[in-house]
Amino acid sequence: MKTKRHPGAGIEIWDVDLRVADDDTFARIRALFDEHGLLFFRGQELSEEDHIALARRFGTINVNRFFVAHADYPEIAMVAKAPEERFNIGGGWHTDHSYDVEPALGSVLVARELPATGGDTCFVSMYDAFATLPVRVQERLRGMNAVHSSKHVFGSKTALLRRLTGSQNQVKNPELADAMEDVVHPVVIKHPLSGREALYVNPGFTIRFEGRSLLRSLPLLGYLYAHATRARRVARFQWQPGSVAVWDNRATWHFAKNDYAGQRRVMHRITIDGCPLTAARSARA
Ligand code: SIN
Repeated sequence: MKTKRHPGAGIEIWDVDLRVADDDTFARIRALFDEHGLLFFRGQELSEEDHIALARRFGTINVNRFFVAHADYPEIAMVAKAPEERFNIGGGWHTDHSYDVEPALGSVLVARELPATGGDTCFVSMYDAFATLPVRVQERLRGMNAVHSSKHVFGSKTALLRRLTGSQNQVKNPELADAMEDVVHPVVIKHPLSGREALYVNPGFTIRFEGRSLLRSLPLLGYLYAHATRARRVARFQWQPGSVAVWDNRATWHFAKNDYAGQRRVMHRITIDGCPLTAARSARA
């Protein structure tokens, strides 16, 4: 198994056929995943069944409430944009499921139909984002919590906007999002797999710091978002037929570029169950 650091973040892995990786090979893949939270594979030939089997090696499958499921495989969420649609799924920096009490561990994304140009996915590491903050900011963040919500993304107001712009078939169940309680997570987590500190707020689903209004939260959130997405930290993954990405939601953010107007892009995503998140301890404690 050959590995190389991907510029910006993540590890690229060659010379492995994910359909038949034996337990030793998978253990090495798993160790890289647990350490870096982001893996890229090329040249795979995964059927839907292979995709499901691979995802199960990472954990229990979490069937997404909001994404439209594959017609024959409910475990697979469709991440698709038709040529006539304007908006795509995931077209802004976010980490999936931070609005859940137990945010999903991560996802296995398989390219199925790609535009001739564009449609890359960008990733950033939340380990790096935290580690490169000034020490006094790190210490301040360790004691803080933030509120996360799905309503503004998957709720009925946004569903109306999607209908008006012809993208109503990408997601479903807005009433579920409307009814979901917002949740609170530590701003800096002790990562459940690596034990390292990671920044855990994101532009997609974090709505404010606990105990502060949105307005009072914006300056610090804006600072953290600009810091995390500095160009040198961004890993841009150019999809090819057979490409697979596996990411950890607690260690990364991602952003699906929407730069392929008039073309179709179809990806299959399987998400894995996570666990409750715990706060990193203050360096002074
Ligand atoms: C997502 O899961 O946010 C979509 C990623 C992608 O389509 O590249």
